[in-house]
Amino acid sequence: MARLNVVKIGDSVLREKCMEVHKFNDNLHRLLDNMAETMYAEQGVGLAAPQVGIPKRVVVIDTEGELIELVNPVIVESSGNQTGEEGCLSIPGEYEEVSRAAEVTVRGQDREGREITLTGSGMLARAIQHEIDHLDGVLFVDRVRKG
Ligand code: CO
Repeated sequence: MARLNVVKIGDSVLREKCMEVHKFNDNLHRLLDNMAETMYAEQGVGLAAPQVGIPKRVVVIDTEGELIELVNPVIVESSGNQTGEEGCLSIPGEYEEVSRAAEVTVRGQDREGREITLTGSGMLARAIQHEIDHLDGVLFVDRVRKG
């Protein structure tokens, strides 16, 4: 495993619409392993592939002491509302209140391409929404209400 460089706001890869993954091979497994190592090393609770310069629909999340890997994730249900402080490893030192759904159900694939469905609330729901935003080139600062 290797720790990867986290790209910062201003890098164009953070604004790309990322590509779907079709090959569930060693390259993907290495990417997932390295993203998890990088997330833990940087003390983040989530990391999306574009943040390490790879415009693919891959995220890792750990808000509750359990690593979640999601490939091609799509939110299929959301409900309620929560507002809380958010940060991002690609935007060092900036923390802002962001409004998100309180609970989401996400459908995607695991590292072997098997379909998975996951429902989360609170911090996990926030992380899922934040990381999926990255896959569409959206950063949390875009969602902060100005003024
Ligand atoms: Co982020």
